[in-house]
Amino acid sequence: MTAIDPSADDDPFSFTPFTRHPFFTHVNRWVLERVICPGRQVIVDLGCGPGAVTQLILERTSGQQPPPRVIGVDPSPSALAKARAAISSKWAEFKQGSAEWLSKLVKSADAVVFLNAIHLMPDKLQVLKEIRRVLNPGGALAFNSTFFNGAYVEGTSGFWRRWIVRSVQALREKGMDVKHDGHAAAMQWFSADQYSAACTAAGLRPVTVELLRIEMTAESLADIGRFSLFIEGALPGVPLKEGSEALQIGLARTMEELKIDRVPRYWLEVVAEAV
Ligand SMILES: C[S@@+](CC[C@H](N)C(=O)[O-])C[C@H]1O[C@@H](n2cnc3c(N)ncnc32)[C@H](O)[C@@H]1O
Repeated sequence: MTAIDPSADDDPFSFTPFTRHPFFTHVNRWVLERVICPGRQVIVDLGCGPGAVTQLILERTSGQQPPPRVIGVDPSPSALAKARAAISSKWAEFKQGSAEWLSKLVKSADAVVFLNAIHLMPDKLQVLKEIRRVLNPGGALAFNSTFFNGAYVEGTSGFWRRWIVRSVQALREKGMDVKHDGHAAAMQWFSADQYSAACTAAGLRPVTVELLRIEMTAESLADIGRFSLFIEGALPGVPLKEGSEALQIGLARTMEELKIDRVPRYWLEVVAEAV
C-alpha cells in the first residue's frame, strides 16, 4: 500500500486535496473505529472515491488474521483509477457501481461504511434498504456527512450564505448569468433525526448518532471549493472551472469581510446495526 499523494493529482476538481486535512481523517477514523473490528471479514467502502477511507480501513485492520476483504465501490471511473493507483493491497478490490444497486455488486458484507457521500443520494431510504440487504446478521453500517440540517454551528450560517452570494457576484462580474436563491439547492439535506428514522425504517437500529465539531481552515475551504461535487452543489449549472474560480474569489472576499480565517462546522456520525 502506498500513501495518496495529493500533489501528484492532476485532476483540478479531485476530492483528494481535501482528504489530507487532519480533521477529515479524524471524522472518518472516529466512526471507522466503531464498526471495523476483528470478525468483520467483508467490509464495503461504499462511495470510496480516490480511496482515503479505504486506506484508513486497511491501516486499522493491518496485522489482523485472517485479513478482511475490503471492497471499494464508486460510480466514478476516474476516482476508482486513483484508488487503484494508490492502494496495492491484495486484500482490497474496487468495483464500479452505485449504492442504489449495491446488492447486485456485493452479495454479503459484515460492515458497510459510507463516508461523506450519503447526502448525495436522492432517495436515502432506498439506499439504506439496499445496504441492509447485503448486511449479514450482526453486521453494521457506518456513515458520516457534514451536509445535513444541523451542520452549521450557531452563528455561522451567515458565512456559508455569504460565500455563495460573493461567488455568484464574482461570476456575474465575468458576465455569467447565474440563477441564485441564496442556497446550495442541488442536494436534499436530512437532519440527524431524519437519518435515524430512515435507518429504522430500513431495518437498521441506530446505535450511535453523534455530532463532531471541527474547525475548517481557509485552506480546507479552498480545497472543498475546488471539488467537482461541491461546485455542482453550491453553484448548480455552472461549469466546473468557472465555478471553482468563483468559489475561490467568493471565499477570499467573505473571509476578508468577516475578518476570520476558519469556520467551525459539525460532522454527523452514525452507526446502525442490522436487525
Ligand atoms: C465526497 S466523496 C467521498 C469519498 C470517500 N468516501 C471519502 O470520504 O473520502 C463522495 C463520493 O461518493 C461517490 N458517489 C456519488 N454518487 C454515488 C452513488 N450513487 N453510489 C455510491 N457512491 C456515489 C462519488 O463518486 C464520490 O467519490
